[in-house]
Amino acid sequence: MCGIVGAVSGSEVAPVLVDALKRLEYRGYDSAGLATYAGSLSVSKGVGRMETLDEALGLSGMEGRAGVGHTRWATHGKPSEGNAHPHTDCDGDLAVVHNGIVENYAELREGLEERGHVFSSYTDTEVVPHLLEERLDGSLEHALRETVSELEGSFAICAVGEDGLVAARNGSPLVIGLSDDANFVASDVPAILPYTRRVKYLLDGEMAVIKRDSVEVRDFDGEPVEREEEVVEWDAEEAERGGYEHYMLKEIHEQPRALAECMGGRLDELMGEVDPGVALDRDGMEVLEGVEFVGCGTSYHAALYGARLTGEFTGLPVNARHASEYRYGPVSGKNILTVGITQSGETADTLRAIERAGDEGHAVLVLTNVVGSTATRMTDDVVYLRSGPEIGVAASKTFTNQLACVAMLAIALGRESGDLPRSEAKHLIAELRDMPSKVQRVLDEVEDVESVAESYVDSEAFFFIGRGVDYPVAMEGALKMKEISYVHSEGYPAGELKHGPLALITRRTPVVAVLTSSPLYEKTLSSAKEVEARDGPVIAVASESDEDTGRFCEEVLRVPDADHRLSPLLSTVVMQLFAYHVARELGRPIDRPRNLAKSVTVE
Ligand code: F6R
Repeated sequence: MCGIVGAVSGSEVAPVLVDALKRLEYRGYDSAGLATYAGSLSVSKGVGRMETLDEALGLSGMEGRAGVGHTRWATHGKPSEGNAHPHTDCDGDLAVVHNGIVENYAELREGLEERGHVFSSYTDTEVVPHLLEERLDGSLEHALRETVSELEGSFAICAVGEDGLVAARNGSPLVIGLSDDANFVASDVPAILPYTRRVKYLLDGEMAVIKRDSVEVRDFDGEPVEREEEVVEWDAEEAERGGYEHYMLKEIHEQPRALAECMGGRLDELMGEVDPGVALDRDGMEVLEGVEFVGCGTSYHAALYGARLTGEFTGLPVNARHASEYRYGPVSGKNILTVGITQSGETADTLRAIERAGDEGHAVLVLTNVVGSTATRMTDDVVYLRSGPEIGVAASKTFTNQLACVAMLAIALGRESGDLPRSEAKHLIAELRDMPSKVQRVLDEVEDVESVAESYVDSEAFFFIGRGVDYPVAMEGALKMKEISYVHSEGYPAGELKHGPLALITRRTPVVAVLTSSPLYEKTLSSAKEVEARDGPVIAVASESDEDTGRFCEEVLRVPDADHRLSPLLSTVVMQLFAYHVARELGRPIDRPRNLAKSVTVE
């Protein structure tokens, strides 16, 4: 996700803005820019890292005691100078930086263009300065209030112009920093920490008018809000992790927001349609003979899940393949859609698999988190995960967004193929919409997971079991556990346990069973009972309303009730937290596990 800074000071702000942006580098970005106001607006932006940008941004011409800055991590439009923030209005009088996604930007842009506004980027953000320009009649605050009422989606917006600095928040964080000779706004505390520790947090639906000697907070209706000032106690390193002990934990907790961004603008509940991010060609669908999902590690688990849902919603033959095997193994048919899943877009095995699929004449679709990565240059059809940068080596928020993306793709394919009735699609879309808040509820119950993890930290090994759509969750649970805790872990389809692994079950080999409500619940419960009968402890992940599981399993961790085909998005979060807390108890270097790298660029 992108970074925002803004300042109004008694002296020049450009050096402060550049310094504050550098403090957001840890979040990752592909371009940056700033704007200052001193009678007229100066804007400077560029692509690349701050150290190379420093010169390009050329502070010499940037005068002004009020300004905004931004580090961009591309979601709409490739990394380029034109797409970098700040964006300006037609007259170049005001500049805007924005985090989040304006879901209705296409429709807003169309209207603005009809009214004569000229756009210079491919971003959703650029509608904001143009909307402000139309509504500006002396008060930037008033114009921003009117503008936010037209925006759908999540945003943190900061605008600077003749009238000073204003900011608004809805779904994307903003913090105000207060000091005697300057006031600040930022998306993240680390940006302003060298300048002040006195902060006020904006909440969703609130705006701030930031002047050198005052800050006024109001709601979107213009009513004043009394907000207590707080003092940040974190050091700079803690602040980068948002106060969490590890990046992985921070990223696990970012999942509700990341999921909301992933699905933003892609779901049409009313019509029961999903826009998966690429055009599905109806003629192509008619001749489509099958769908193959390929990926490695965590992304392979998303592939397994995608294959399962797509098979169910389309009736087409589907497959999930390890990318490393796909390259050398037999490849089926010609009229195949191959979906390559890779959060980094740089995994050598997956790139080679995508290449092979293309050579075989398949239609190729890539699901990735990184705009401009190698995978995105191998096909025209790319769906972005919109997870924001993931710093912990073990994938967390990119996995849940992969699950959401393949679920949306499966629904879209089901609708196009005519196999998924509209009413069913509407139901699934409504369930998807509820996922960010349900994931938040899972995160709110974290203490339960932590205490169960503490009880089993001395285990010899863990087994993870699930059936159907819960099998990929079990596989991912085991992978997370082995990666970050170094405790031996295996994921199995629940029915396979009795075909061998049961021989290993003892009191010291707990079995984590995905037992959320599903048509296969009783079957998985039988597997759990087999384990308990052999003295193995079962840690069940069960639905809130389920009263049975607790009678048979030693521990039960709860997730909100959900359609069983989508509840993997919830169970997965429990698995991540469980692995995290076991690893933490064992004192492992969670963000940098031994022998592993964030992207694996060798075969
Ligand atoms: C697990 C993990 C790895 C990656 C795998 C593929 O936490 O991060 O298993 O999933 O190396 O990486 P991408 O998705 O970048 O292709």
